[in-house]
Amino acid sequence: MINEQKICFSGVQPSGNLTIGNYLGAIRNFAAYSEAYKCFYCVVDEHAITVRQVPAELRRRTYETLALYMACGLDPEKNTLYVQSHVPAHAELSWILNCFTMYGELSRMTQFKDKSTKHADNVNAGLFTYPVLMAADILLYQTDVVPVGIDQKQHVELARNIVERFNQIYPDTFTMPEPIIAKNGKKIMSLAEPTKKMSKSDENQNAVVYILDDKDTVIRKFRRAVTDSDTRVRFAEGKDGINNLMTIYSCFTNKSMDEIEREFAGKGYGDFKLAVGEVCADALAPVQSRFRELLADKAYLEAMMKKGAEEAAYYARKTLSKVQKKLGFVPLPR
Ligand code: TYM
Repeated sequence: MINEQKICFSGVQPSGNLTIGNYLGAIRNFAAYSEAYKCFYCVVDEHAITVRQVPAELRRRTYETLALYMACGLDPEKNTLYVQSHVPAHAELSWILNCFTMYGELSRMTQFKDKSTKHADNVNAGLFTYPVLMAADILLYQTDVVPVGIDQKQHVELARNIVERFNQIYPDTFTMPEPIIAKNGKKIMSLAEPTKKMSKSDENQNAVVYILDDKDTVIRKFRRAVTDSDTRVRFAEGKDGINNLMTIYSCFTNKSMDEIEREFAGKGYGDFKLAVGEVCADALAPVQSRFRELLADKAYLEAMMKKGAEEAAYYARKTLSKVQKKLGFVPLPR
């Protein structure tokens, strides 16, 4: 806790164009924490380089992710919005926590297993220790809650194990973080293979709806979404494609599955897909126009980037110094 206020932390990688999975599972829920928590929302560029990035694209997406945070309702006066590599304490604490994380624990991470299969030619040590850097992100701010999609839950649980281990040796060092998983939208699936998570790194553009897709593109992608040979819109086991579309529709309209079934009774999949596309595109339109305004004002974005990094560095430094002291590192003589 900082000044008795509870802390919220989350991050997004600038490793690809952000999807409605990122939006519904994470970003759109962030603003709700601003009132009750002190919030830190980070653009995690250091995590992004565990997979090869094109430098110019990484740079562009770092600005874009920051702008998208704001376009999705995060006021930089009420939240600390910043870029991970601007606060060196993340990498420093990450090294320390590496020494408190077990090889076996990291080997069990499903994201590591998936990514090392996908990038078999580049299974680097950073990919393996990725969750340790994520634990450092969270623990540096003495975080209480971490709003994330379900795919990140295992990583937050690892951070909890690290807290337990570290605090046992050095009592009262870190706050125990709690993952908060959205009830609706915690796992948005691919439109092409609805048993797979929708992912910003998917090569099939039709599998993914991006936050910045225009209305025609959104509608076209939903129209082509893979479904099944049934014709009734209903939520049921084995109907992964329709279940996913109903979940997306429900996220954007706040309607329950029963209400959606009733709304589309007697109508076919075609009508339903069009309706999903429309509610999605209409919800994204104001985010997109705000995003374009923000991106056009680079000076403002940079001023907010700097302010965020300064605020974050202040809190991060406090925790890092405490940890270094506990470990027995000699402070630099003044
Ligand atoms: P990233 O960049 O992959 O995703 C950002 C957030 O979006 C959520 N998400 C989804 N939610 C629902 N359905 C989907 N298809 C979907 N795809 C992504 C993710 O769960 C995440 O909440 N390791 C993290 C970034 C990170 C972080 C942190 C998060 C680094 N440090 C500290 C929280 C706390 C990641 O790769 O997220």
